[in-house]
Amino acid sequence: MKTVLVLIVSVFSVMQNLYVNIDNTRWKAPESADKVANSIPADQASINAGKHLFNKLCWTCHGQTGKGDGPASNNLNPKPADFSTVEFNEQTDGAIFWKISEGRGAMASYKTSLSIKQRWQLVNYLRTLK
Ligand code: HEC
Repeated sequence: MKTVLVLIVSVFSVMQNLYVNIDNTRWKAPESADKVANSIPADQASINAGKHLFNKLCWTCHGQTGKGDGPASNNLNPKPADFSTVEFNEQTDGAIFWKISEGRGAMASYKTSLSIKQRWQLVNYLRTLK
């Protein structure tokens, strides 16, 4: 009986590890997203508009300076991205736009709640956080 129990527990923990690993894979946008060009110039007006949206909708998880350390980030796995990193900034604008549009896990999809213009304004603002 004891061995059966140990077996069940170990199978469970293996499964849990697998699940966590799958969930933690680095989030990659599809290649097609890279080809989508930013239609909104990264001028001061669009950056300000993006900042306004960020301070309304995103900071609770991503943190006020975009380091991924907002008050709602504590229990999240994976953690919200840190926008100041090289890994984040080496992606194309199109990939960042795609992620904001589609979402994954705790990160919501903003495709329907934000316009195309607003999502590019957010991309332009996130670029200033490096
Ligand atoms: C409820 C918490 C939460 C909110 C609110 C939120 N995010 Fe996220 N965001 C996350 C998490 C968690 C991830 C990491 C998801 C993953 O890797 O599976 C993420 C990832 C991202 C990424 C991808 C980063 C990368 O590694 O390439 C972008 C871009 C992003 N968020 C932008 C935004 C923007 C813009 C907003 C506001 C409109 C926002 N997020 C609001 C939790 C949140």
